[in-house]
Amino acid sequence: MSNDGANNVPLTTPYKMGRFRLSHRVVLAPLTRQRSYGNVPQPHAVLYYQQRTTKGGLLIAEATGVSDTAQGYKDTPGIWTKEQVEAWKPTVDGVHAKGGIFFCQIWHVGRVSNSTFQPNGQAPISSTDKPLKPQVRGNGVDVPKFTPPRRLETDEIPLVINDFRVAARNAIEAGFDGVEIHGAHGYLIDQFLKDQLNDRTDIYGGSLENRCRFAVEIVQAVVDEIGAEKVGMRLSPFANYSGAADSNPEALGLYMAHALNKFGILYCHVVEPRIVELGGNFETPYSIGPMRDAFKGTFIVAGNYSRDDGNNAISSGYADLIAYGRLFLSNPDLPRRFEIDATLNKYNSETFYIPDPVIGYTDYPFLPSDIQMYKCAFEEKSILD
Ligand SMILES: Cc1cc2nc3c(=O)[nH]c(=O)nc-3n(C[C@H](O)[C@H](O)[C@H](O)COP(=O)(O)O)c2cc1C
Repeated sequence: MSNDGANNVPLTTPYKMGRFRLSHRVVLAPLTRQRSYGNVPQPHAVLYYQQRTTKGGLLIAEATGVSDTAQGYKDTPGIWTKEQVEAWKPTVDGVHAKGGIFFCQIWHVGRVSNSTFQPNGQAPISSTDKPLKPQVRGNGVDVPKFTPPRRLETDEIPLVINDFRVAARNAIEAGFDGVEIHGAHGYLIDQFLKDQLNDRTDIYGGSLENRCRFAVEIVQAVVDEIGAEKVGMRLSPFANYSGAADSNPEALGLYMAHALNKFGILYCHVVEPRIVELGGNFETPYSIGPMRDAFKGTFIVAGNYSRDDGNNAISSGYADLIAYGRLFLSNPDLPRRFEIDATLNKYNSETFYIPDPVIGYTDYPFLPSDIQMYKCAFEEKSILD
């Protein structure tokens, strides 16, 4: 174990993101944990998120449904009812009590769902009526067979956009510092963005501009509601999750980067081209560089980053912040471990999505206390201006 000072570790250098003074560059990636029974955040989430909070650290909450049609997995949280908003508050307060900055990822799964998750057992909604084939998740757990979706009528689309607007308002009401619009991974927004899936003939399909219209109108609505300085967006133009592929992902990513600039949103969070599907690095001819160069706000990247990869990405200016998923899941003190180059706990993918409120959730060990006694440089700084 080496004991680099914070200055020698690019990941643990401060960064100003809009009005937030981040004390380091290690972001908690959004991670679905399926422990919000009945779509309501539970008390055990307070400890889970608090464990991963550092003063001046950015955390992105797990994907959180915007409406009763938004769900596709058991026990994922929502933010469309008063009860859900109230239930988020202790967790948000817990993160703030430790000085963290907390964004809520707002989400609609679209066709990645089943009628049992839908009100009155109806079909899931999508950009298309093309069915999605059954899949096996990374941890080997079968997702229930997907119900063929119902293509949204053009005049229904403003209602879904409004659900995102209300969810963003609710997130602020719950105390979150902002929202991340989930435009990645083959969910509803991505089902509009990608040309291999979107087969619409109205103003939301066809040309690149038309396919991006739904995403852009959601950003507009959310920005109007809570302000651009509180809005981030996650995109995975290069990925092919749940059949959401595009024939020209670089053009798609670039178009969205320019579109987001028009609203001046706080950050753009992009999943690496090498992450075609979760679980490994794939060969890719694509580069994230043009998006990075085009986008004017904070640029966050994610996908199979190690400590060295993250340090290199920060020191070379490839990205401003790195979001860590599985390593942060299994190492609640990940920024500290990166600071001193400590050994990392291994994650157990068997327990990613089990409903247990402790196992695989809050029981990953911290560094022994003698190591923690070193005062973390990033515990000292103020977080907001
Ligand atoms: C258990 C688990 C849950 C995830 N849930 C979400 C999610 O809710 N929203 C999202 O955008 N990505 C989700 N992802 C993707 C992660 O945010 C991240 O992009 C991915 O794990 C790659 O980063 P990593 O290699 O650092 O883990 C999830 C990944 C895992 C392993």
